[in-house]
Amino acid sequence: MKIGLKIIVSFFLIIFIQVKLFCGEGMWLPHLLNALNEKEMKAMGMKMNAEDIYSVNKGSLKDAIVHFGGGCTSEIISGQGLLLTNHHCGYGYIQSHSSVEKNYLKNGYWAKTKSEELACGGLTATIISRIEDVTKQILNGTSSNMSEAERRPIIEKNIKVLTPTIQRATHEDVFIRAFFNGNQYFAFITVTYKDIRLVGTPPESIGKFGADTDNWVWPRHTGDFSLFRIYAGKNNLPADYSEENIPFTPKHFLPINMNGVQDGDFTMVFGFPGRTNEYLSREGVRQIVEVQNPIRVTMRDHALKIMDKYMRVDEQTKIQYSSIYAGIANAWKKWIGENQGVKFTKGLDRKQAVDEEYTKRVNANPAFAEYRNILSDLDKHYLASEKYTAAKEYYAEGFQRNLQLFNFYSIAKKLISTQESKGNEEFEKLKKDYLLDADGYYADYQEKIDQEILATLLEIFHKGCDPSLQFPELKLQLEKLNYDYSKYAKHIYDNSNYATASQLKKFLTMNVNEMKTALSNDPSWIFYEAMTPFIKNEILVKSNLHDEAILDLRRRHMESLIKVFPERKFYPDANSTLRVTYGQVEGFQPRDGACYNSKTYLDGVIEKYIPGDYEFDVHPKLIDLYKRKDYGKYAENGRMPVAFIASNHTTGGNSGSPAIDAHGNLIGLNFDRVWEGTMSDINYDRSICRNIMVDARFILFVIDKFAGASHLIDEMKLVYPKSTKSRKNKK
Ligand code: ARG
Ligand code: GLU
Repeated sequence: MKIGLKIIVSFFLIIFIQVKLFCGEGMWLPHLLNALNEKEMKAMGMKMNAEDIYSVNKGSLKDAIVHFGGGCTSEIISGQGLLLTNHHCGYGYIQSHSSVEKNYLKNGYWAKTKSEELACGGLTATIISRIEDVTKQILNGTSSNMSEAERRPIIEKNIKVLTPTIQRATHEDVFIRAFFNGNQYFAFITVTYKDIRLVGTPPESIGKFGADTDNWVWPRHTGDFSLFRIYAGKNNLPADYSEENIPFTPKHFLPINMNGVQDGDFTMVFGFPGRTNEYLSREGVRQIVEVQNPIRVTMRDHALKIMDKYMRVDEQTKIQYSSIYAGIANAWKKWIGENQGVKFTKGLDRKQAVDEEYTKRVNANPAFAEYRNILSDLDKHYLASEKYTAAKEYYAEGFQRNLQLFNFYSIAKKLISTQESKGNEEFEKLKKDYLLDADGYYADYQEKIDQEILATLLEIFHKGCDPSLQFPELKLQLEKLNYDYSKYAKHIYDNSNYATASQLKKFLTMNVNEMKTALSNDPSWIFYEAMTPFIKNEILVKSNLHDEAILDLRRRHMESLIKVFPERKFYPDANSTLRVTYGQVEGFQPRDGACYNSKTYLDGVIEKYIPGDYEFDVHPKLIDLYKRKDYGKYAENGRMPVAFIASNHTTGGNSGSPAIDAHGNLIGLNFDRVWEGTMSDINYDRSICRNIMVDARFILFVIDKFAGASHLIDEMKLVYPKSTKSRKNKK
């Protein structure tokens, strides 16, 4: 390349990197918005100050944002602790209150009074009181060029010493988390409420409309919401469930904007995104898309096909397996989308361009001399660990995540290890507990399906996994059975002590010696008992050397990126802590010649309607409301909005997060991303990365018009902000 051209190319690269970061990308820490984002947010249309979003001195938006059960997000939408989250986040609790006679999944549930609100044991709701930078204290005694192994004990000790000294009230908790791959540390002071009750949920035909077929897909028509309430004890403080508890009075709750959204509107999503890896080098991304994802996807393709085959021909099986199927299919579909997105946006080339620019700058500046080998060392370790990375996926997908047999084996394992480590009394107690729940463990399981999955995955494993990383017992058995995978699988299930509920129950009547004797002839026990130490000694011990080095290098790479690209603003990868992401309402072009609008309407629900179908059935009452256009004050020019998309950078864990307008009002409820853009976890690209939200007005319409639960609307605060007044329903 000629010098002149080179300069032009790198100039464009810098522009490209800056523009890429301009809008949409980023999961920002709420207490740093003032310094990093406020200006840009206002330029994009936000009418609030950073202080209105996060403040420790006054009520702010963050006081309405609630970590729901540790995995999802929810938000407070009334002065009486009313919580809004996704249907799929509340699913387990709705299911646990459901029975054949009272099928709340199928029919929905609406508490008419507070006394009908249903306690959800085990569910927690956590609010962040304060965030503090504790980097200095936590990194005290470490240096940048120490290895992870050297740093870890120092950091652990610092955390242990510092945590109890952080100022907090008796009802508050504190935890410390690493950011930027261990370059920064923040303390979170939190309050966790423990009496959370189910208030209302639409039927699945609304809350899960489109189910797996529509999952990750735009255009979308799912009313994926449910309502809970936080209850508090004396003085509005957290308390275990008690009839005496009363609805929690929040410091802040979100008013609801009734004017809806239009293209270009500012939106922000405030919640608890789980995990992202945005700063990987090219090789890091390549391993995900070329090594890990293909193994995961192939194995799940087969497992899902087998389940589907049985679910299609038998209603009972369909009910039984739907939740397991949905769980396995959710990540499977995401990984497929991730790979397609990286390909479509030339993600590897883009990563390479960043790596090259980084290398150029590092080599040109003597101050960066210590960073010169980071990328090449990373490459070395990634490549050296590739076969282990692949093997880990083969084992996990082949014999753990997609098989229920593994859970049953884990029960036997826990029993034996409890007896050995804690003695007979604990062992007997555990046996009793297991016996009590035994039928439950097998409720969503059929031996023949699990067995067929094992047979199929055995073959994929055996043909795909590096032969030197396959455990000898497996090779031995396969050789003995002439590579008849089905025969091996059958042998395992036929002779197991826990492949059925009745077998497990019988097993649970044994004393420990009888158990051990029974297990010594149990091929499933032998299989897993041979596999576990092999994975540990032949795979993990060896890959850990590289994994540790990669951790180390990634920390230093992150540290150096911040210095080497001073013109870039950096946000830390998601780690289940509170974040703000912002963007605007906008459609996108998923592929050449196609274009998606940003909004969907109830008309689309009716278009997708398939009578009696388990994914696309529509409730007669909703059809009736549609026919009569009985939308009340929730309509938009005579139509009922359902969902919309925007360029907010979200990930798993953001489910249930509020989409907030320029003024701080609730405008939508985040529940998904578009399939084309799921690679935003490793490669955000504003051209196709969109989050999907339920329109707040659809939620209110379902509560009010569909369910007749207008008393819930009465507790909320509906607003019609002036700046968007022209959109108010003119009807
Ligand atoms: N894709 C969304 C998420 O990752 C929704 C999952 C639940 N819905 C479903 N059909 N499985 O959590
Ligand atoms: N449905 C996801 C969740 O449960 C959110 C979608 C995403 O991964 O962005 O958190």
